[in-house]
Amino acid sequence: MLKPGSLDITDVAVDKPLRDEVLVRTLGSGLCHSDLHVIDGDYGAAGLDAPGGMLFGHEASGLVEAVGEDVTYVRPGDHVVTFPLQYCGHCEYCLRGRPTLCTDSPGARSASAPPRLTRQGRPVFQFNNLGGFAEQMLVHEHALVKIDPEYPMDRAAIIGCGVATGFGGVVNTAAVRAGSAVAVIGLGGVGLAAVQTASLVGAGQIIAVDTEPAKLDLALELGASHRVDASSADPVGEVLELSGGGVDYSFEAIGLRTTVEQSVRMLRRAGIATVLGIAVGQRIELDGGLFVHERRLQGSLMGSCRPRTDLPRIVELDLAGRLDLRRFIDRRIALEEINDGYDAMRRRRIAGRRVITFSQ
Ligand SMILES: NC(=O)c1ccc[n+]([C@@H]2O[C@H](COP(=O)([O-])OP(=O)(O)OC[C@H]3O[C@@H](n4cnc5c(N)ncnc54)[C@H](O)[C@@H]3O)[C@@H](O)[C@H]2O)c1
Ligand SMILES: [Zn+2]
Ligand SMILES: [Zn+2]
Repeated sequence: MLKPGSLDITDVAVDKPLRDEVLVRTLGSGLCHSDLHVIDGDYGAAGLDAPGGMLFGHEASGLVEAVGEDVTYVRPGDHVVTFPLQYCGHCEYCLRGRPTLCTDSPGARSASAPPRLTRQGRPVFQFNNLGGFAEQMLVHEHALVKIDPEYPMDRAAIIGCGVATGFGGVVNTAAVRAGSAVAVIGLGGVGLAAVQTASLVGAGQIIAVDTEPAKLDLALELGASHRVDASSADPVGEVLELSGGGVDYSFEAIGLRTTVEQSVRMLRRAGIATVLGIAVGQRIELDGGLFVHERRLQGSLMGSCRPRTDLPRIVELDLAGRLDLRRFIDRRIALEEINDGYDAMRRRRIAGRRVITFSQ
């Protein structure tokens, strides 16, 4: 099913929910670069060899249609968003309050059970155990977060991955302090969420870095105080100059070796660089002298979010007008336009997030 660079639209049979599973009618599904990394073969990924192919889509919203007999968290009619990592609740990391690092995820069905999804009788792999680019999703209940039914479902679609990662990267992983200087490199859905959250928590200076003028303009509208065009030159010099010697926090939201390196080189003493982008397989090269004055480089998986508490908070902040996620949606498209959408992402033409909407 997976041809490099393009997706096929096809029919898939969906099983009934087993004990801890939930069947969701999909209403919205965002296009995130993490799908594209795998579609374009940037690195290998589990499930690419599934006999029935791989079903992508890992930030989605929908309505609960049916639940398995052990499900207690949701019931039919609930409004939900998906989360790409499913926690067990009993491993060391879950007990330490770090569910995104869970080592015993219950997200997939056990191999001894019949497959959740099949295509002409052959098992289909669900990316992130979700498969949000389909009219229905059959998932573990820990893949879902209940949200306020008043919240618009197209916007809800982008919360579970892109917004959670940018928001959580700022408030959880880096814990940005009010008044500090922040730089965000890469202004897609993830980077824009980091910009807006840095503004929400009171960063003093927010420097937005991208190669595309339209994205820089949008970042300024969403809370950035300065813009640096990285299309023709290394942006580090300009960031050092604008911040008077470096930023306290930088966020890399692309997943490239050069921009990860830039994120550390633009820090002031004791500054912290947080890598939100997925740079699997790339070798990072930095002058060890940068670490003498306590600069730090760290990763952030899904913004270190605790889905059932952090995602409803994002919804509340948006409903209260403290975030403005409506402005993140670049365009609403039909499923049939998905390949055009990912082509636009490859060409860096999506200012914000593109969302597939499904009819009810
Ligand atoms: N850590 C996580 O858990 C997590 C979660 C979601 C997404 N991601 C990753 O975050 C990254 C961003 O995802 P996205 O969906 O926002 O992607 P996107 O494609 O929408 O955005 C990337 C942005 O980077 C810009 N860009 C590209 N090259 C650049 C360069 N050299 N200098 C400056 N800007 C440049 C593009 O113009 C674009 O605005 C991806 O690597 C994705 O896989 C990670
Ligand atoms: Zn766990
Ligand atoms: Zn994603």
